[in-house]
Amino acid sequence: MEKQSLRAYMKRLEENKQLWVCDKEVDPKFDMGALVRKFNGTRAMLFKNPKGYNMPAVAGICGCRTRYAELLGVKSDELVFPITKAVANPIPYKVVSTGAVKENIIKRGIDIKKMMPVPTFHEKDSNPFITAGIVAVRDSETGKTHTSVRRLQVLGGNKLSVLIESPLLMDQVAEFDRSNKPLEIAVILGYDPITMLASQVNSQVYGLDKYEVDSALRGEALELVKCETVDILVPAHVEMIIEGVIPPKVREKEGPFGEMAGYYGGGNMQPIMEVSCVTHRNNPIFQFNFPSSSEHVLPNGLMREMHLYWQVKNMISTVKGVHLPTVGGCRFHAIISIKKTNEGDGKSAILAALASNKDVKHVVIVDHDVDIFNPRDVEWAIATRVQADNDVVIIPGAKGSPLEPTHEMRGVTAKMGIDATAPLGTLDGKFERTKIPGSERLNLKDYFPGLEG
Ligand SMILES: Cc1cc2nc3c(=O)[nH]c(=O)nc-3n(C[C@H](O)[C@H](O)[C@H](O)COP(=O)(O)O)c2cc1C
Repeated sequence: MEKQSLRAYMKRLEENKQLWVCDKEVDPKFDMGALVRKFNGTRAMLFKNPKGYNMPAVAGICGCRTRYAELLGVKSDELVFPITKAVANPIPYKVVSTGAVKENIIKRGIDIKKMMPVPTFHEKDSNPFITAGIVAVRDSETGKTHTSVRRLQVLGGNKLSVLIESPLLMDQVAEFDRSNKPLEIAVILGYDPITMLASQVNSQVYGLDKYEVDSALRGEALELVKCETVDILVPAHVEMIIEGVIPPKVREKEGPFGEMAGYYGGGNMQPIMEVSCVTHRNNPIFQFNFPSSSEHVLPNGLMREMHLYWQVKNMISTVKGVHLPTVGGCRFHAIISIKKTNEGDGKSAILAALASNKDVKHVVIVDHDVDIFNPRDVEWAIATRVQADNDVVIIPGAKGSPLEPTHEMRGVTAKMGIDATAPLGTLDGKFERTKIPGSERLNLKDYFPGLEG
């Protein structure tokens, strides 16, 4: 079904004038990434002419909240609900005999650096990195496919290294090390935002087959095909699949690489992948994202928001919305709005949010009249509704994110909550916001016709 392809999604973007197309030659070393970063990965950009390659490259496909909302048919502050529905009601995928991704099958002479325009992003990055690859592995016990994005360092020839930081895949690699067997994997490239979003479900918490979540999110069975050289199912209509194995007990230095918090990280020994086959569509499009841009943190953040919402809801049933802003990597900062019904609700929401996940470091609780997606509105609430001696809660020495750069001991952090809610019952009294009747219907362009933007 071609409508499950990146190309179908790009066509839709093009029709809505949301795809920026660059015909000029652009160097994959630094320049391609630099252009994507200018908009923090929120704009879809097609580079038709990466320097030295015949293959176009696209980025910014999965970095925009409003485009996820359009795809899932809700407003952008309601994304929690369709995502929850898909996670709670996964639907079966469909295995088909072939698909466009099989149009070309390459098993010999594989040299990833020569085959595709893999970008080098930062000055001190050790190598080019594939940043958008969704790694698929099959759980030998359950048969379920596990997908997750992992950065892949291009080491030369058919060799990549894989950065694996979450428990399920880490355990699987350790198990194959112990039994001295190669772990089969496939890397999916050139997919639409739904496949990206589904890959970000936390399997530790939900234990799902992510292809079934993908199917539920798109409202129809995702079509899958078998790989050529490994026993793994992959989406049939994507641009490219890189197949291979993680050999047991082999490690190579990975990084340095510009990471989440905007600093260099990596430099540790990590598993490698030996590529056995590349299949791709005719005239394939290489997909990448800029590390730590919105396209990196938002898909994961949307899943985190779903989890956070229900954790807070468990404590405060009148929670209105949660937001993990991209500036905090969609994990370090949380903004939560509640409709207060008890005086202690603000503090209880702080407790629930800080305990929901090790990565949430600072949380601000606001009333339901504050727009949690507008940083100015949130700052206004902090400015006008906070008394620091009563409203700031600090928890020293809690479990934190290993990616957090300020800690003295890796993985240990102070956490802070700010209760920026007004005292109960005062939103229509002392803390009633000023309003201008009818201001929403005034369109500036009607009054200042020459106005741009
Ligand atoms: C663009 C992008 C890049 C990512 N890079 C990595 C990575 O290099 N290593 C890693 O362990 N997780 C990375 N992640 C996070 C995992 O893909 C994510 O935590 C996923 O949900 C893990 O799935 P699991 O909890 O089922 O293992 C990345 C996520 C995105 C969206």
